[in-house]
Amino acid sequence: MFLSVLLPFSNTMKSRQPFFISIVWFSLILHVFVPVSGQHLAVDCGSKGGEDEDGRNWEPDEKYLKKSDGSTQLQAGYQDPSLLSIIPYMNARIFTSPAKYEFPIKSKQRYLLRLHFYPSAYPNFNISNSYFSVTAGEVTLMKNFSAEITCKALTQAYLVREYSLAPSDSEFVSIAFTPSTNYTNSFAFVNGIELIAMPNLFGLASVVGYGSSDIDVSSENLQTMFRLNVGGQSIPPGKDSGGLLRSWYDDDPYILGAAIGMSTEANKDVRIDYKKLSHSSAPEEVYRTAREMGGDTLNTKFNLTWLFQVDANFSYIVRLHFCEFEFDRVNQRKFNIYINNQSAQTDPDPVDIIEWTGGKGVPTYKDYVIVVGDGPGDEKVRIEMSPSLEYKSWYADSQLNGVEIFKLNDENKNLAGKNPQLSSMLLKMGSEPDKSFVSRSNNTVVIAGAAGGSAAAFLVVALVVLAYRKRKRSGVDSHTSSWQPVHGNSHTTGESNSNHALALAQGLSRHFSISEIRQATKNFDDSNVIGVGGFGNVYKGVIDRGTKVAIKRSNPSSEQGINEFQTEVEMLSKLRHKHLVSLIGFCEDGGEMCLVYDYMALGTFREHLYNNNEAHLSWKQRLEICIGAARGLHYLHTGAKYTIIHRDVKTTNILLDEKWVAKVSDFGLSKTGPEMNQGHVSTVVKGSFGYLDPEYFRRQQLTEKSDVYSFGVVLFEALCARPALNPSLPKEQVSLADWARLCHKKGTLEDIIDPQLKGKINPECLQKFTDTAVKCLSDQGIERPNMGDVLWNLEFALQLQEKADTGKAVTVN
Ligand SMILES: *[C@@H]1O[C@H](CO)[C@@H](O)[C@H](O)[C@H]1NC(C)=O
Ligand SMILES: *[C@@H]1O[C@H](CO)[C@@H](O)[C@H](O)[C@H]1NC(C)=O
Ligand SMILES: *[C@@H]1O[C@H](CO)[C@@H](O)[C@H](O)[C@H]1NC(C)=O
Ligand SMILES: *[C@@H]1O[C@H](CO)[C@@H](O)[C@H](O)[C@H]1NC(C)=O
Ligand SMILES: *[C@@H]1O[C@H](CO)[C@@H](O)[C@H](O)[C@H]1NC(C)=O
Ligand SMILES: *[C@@H]1O[C@H](CO)[C@@H](O)[C@H](O)[C@H]1NC(C)=O
Repeated sequence: MFLSVLLPFSNTMKSRQPFFISIVWFSLILHVFVPVSGQHLAVDCGSKGGEDEDGRNWEPDEKYLKKSDGSTQLQAGYQDPSLLSIIPYMNARIFTSPAKYEFPIKSKQRYLLRLHFYPSAYPNFNISNSYFSVTAGEVTLMKNFSAEITCKALTQAYLVREYSLAPSDSEFVSIAFTPSTNYTNSFAFVNGIELIAMPNLFGLASVVGYGSSDIDVSSENLQTMFRLNVGGQSIPPGKDSGGLLRSWYDDDPYILGAAIGMSTEANKDVRIDYKKLSHSSAPEEVYRTAREMGGDTLNTKFNLTWLFQVDANFSYIVRLHFCEFEFDRVNQRKFNIYINNQSAQTDPDPVDIIEWTGGKGVPTYKDYVIVVGDGPGDEKVRIEMSPSLEYKSWYADSQLNGVEIFKLNDENKNLAGKNPQLSSMLLKMGSEPDKSFVSRSNNTVVIAGAAGGSAAAFLVVALVVLAYRKRKRSGVDSHTSSWQPVHGNSHTTGESNSNHALALAQGLSRHFSISEIRQATKNFDDSNVIGVGGFGNVYKGVIDRGTKVAIKRSNPSSEQGINEFQTEVEMLSKLRHKHLVSLIGFCEDGGEMCLVYDYMALGTFREHLYNNNEAHLSWKQRLEICIGAARGLHYLHTGAKYTIIHRDVKTTNILLDEKWVAKVSDFGLSKTGPEMNQGHVSTVVKGSFGYLDPEYFRRQQLTEKSDVYSFGVVLFEALCARPALNPSLPKEQVSLADWARLCHKKGTLEDIIDPQLKGKINPECLQKFTDTAVKCLSDQGIERPNMGDVLWNLEFALQLQEKADTGKAVTVN
């Protein structure tokens, strides 16, 4: 079967030479003609056109429509809050019989084609009946396509499909839409079409698992599956290179297991020199950031792995972007690349980026072709990297700057895959009446429901999230992204009180209106910002004439944000405990999502340990804080209906109220234990490097003992007053967990204790404390104590200290 899939390429193998010439040639052209109109079309289907939120102009579609009996222009009846721009999404061209557009193109030119779909409620059309096919010239792009099902599976409201059409001899391309005849009342629709001339960035690619054979893909049609700025942030279309307006997403959701490595960024003085490479290959920002393993010996024990869900029975081009910006000589970083468990290198030597590019700051990319079959579990692309062992390089490390995955058309010029299968969970949610929002406006039934990205709540598995997820990192200015959400628009008919998680919570926590929130935060004044998280900004505020609160405001453009919002509301509203940060209420109003918490006057545990130099916490205070946090975690693990694994235990998630009472915060990343969603817990491991349970590396499974491990790191942080990871220290000291264990073994723990505590800790107490902390850091989860035992031991350590302070002996019971 594999061979028959490969066959179409075998007669097109060519030598390397023409490829390089064509790249140089096309990139020269590109710089000349990009801004010229006609090569850069944006068409707003079914409308008069206009500017989108980025200020880009979209044309009306009428003049390109060639065959259009049975076509209608309609406005969507509902504007999903996650829609980032009215244009092109709020209007659609609807086809009840075959129809086509014709666009002028240049012959021998490769084109990017983007199709935008918003499967919403259109008056008199039931979107569930919409199944259709789309072709571009001879190429089948979609067959029996249901935008509704696809969006549901992705838990997003709208969808962008991107294709790269091979150069042809024709002076025009026709994009044809054909409603399926197999469904009654079926129709086709489209909201926007973009057609952008691009250099032919495709040439020879080496076929993984077939020795060193190269195939020429320069005249193949492709569908973009993924495009990621590895180790960096998402890059909006406006910041793409070559005027191609591509979106680059961050790679976090695709990392498998806990071995997430480290994100790195080139120093400002490193200049990115494209040399022969086309600037259109990727923007500088992709090459200036990377994910690496961290140069630790631990690296040799695991692979840095990304996993992607793809369609069965196709071949894919996996394009890996590299740019070495730390080292400038060969043999400093050498690694192996595997794709679907097979070595991707054509020669036995490991990869050395400097050897490929000739220098620091010079980017390159490599294309690999991987054949994906149709056996059970086959529809995945798995990219793995591991430091090379045989070839003694200076650092045990690997690095990746960017990934793109393209589907290759098959021998029938087909790119269409099947509609995704909705998981039973998504199906169930879609059919429950309280999950979909139904209201009446202009006598039209409006159905939003699952399409809004809201239905899947925290049950979404990263594996299913094929693409197009925007997520803000801490410290990122929320205004850098393009297409900020549109609020208060007249098309909005929903009060979005649709949500199951929210409805659940309603009985338990207070519902704030957006005006109350605005009043509390002085209209989200910047001076009120007390923190920035993955979810958005955190503001301090005052409600009820004097109660201080912390308000997390979500960034509605982030899918991740929505899910985490719901996770938090759902979990926190059911969890009440002295050592957990209490949720007072929430607000989902006017397109805003906010969570209102108790205000923690004294901030994070971390900032009192080593971020400020003034007041130092006494040993007893530190012990009490650790005990409080342990109680909170113990409650999460055992006190609620399900085991709740925090997944991101660290000193910045332990907050202190005005009386120094420790409270565990940030459940946005929490997952319920194995009984709740089997097999899913392991796939979206999150957390912070330096605190991560090494057992993930081996088993990629999440248990409450993973929290115990992280808590062990917290205990040493409290004792040593240093961060969990400090890359500026000598290699063996970088990781606090490793260093503390080593010192414990050598009996030199005394040496790494915070100098401020020297001589102030009772030796027996110290012994008890460090024994407990070291046990938490055991390699095997089953060797670690549970949180209850940790708690007991810490309390005992506190007693030992108190008795020593008051001069009495302690009796061990
Ligand atoms: C739309 O069609 C689906 C499936 O055919 C059906 O279940 C649903 O009730 C229809 N919705 C409306 C509003 O007619
Ligand atoms: C309709 O179904 C038949 C068989 O079930 C299939 O051969 C045909 O391709 C389908 N047509 C469309 C337009 O999907
Ligand atoms: C690759 O190996 C992993 C882990 O052993 C396994 O789960 C996966 O199914 C393998 N993939 C393929 C394509 O063989
Ligand atoms: C890394 O991946 C390759 C290919 O799947 C596998 O052979 C190798 O054992 C893995 N290495 C580790 C340390 O897991
Ligand atoms: C894959 O292709 C083979 C041969 O063309 C076909 O028999 C099989 O049904 C296809 N599988 C899927 C999942 O489409
Ligand atoms: C069309 O898609 C639907 C939904 O995925 C599927 O149930 C049906 O079998 C498909 N029909 C054909 C002809 O492929």
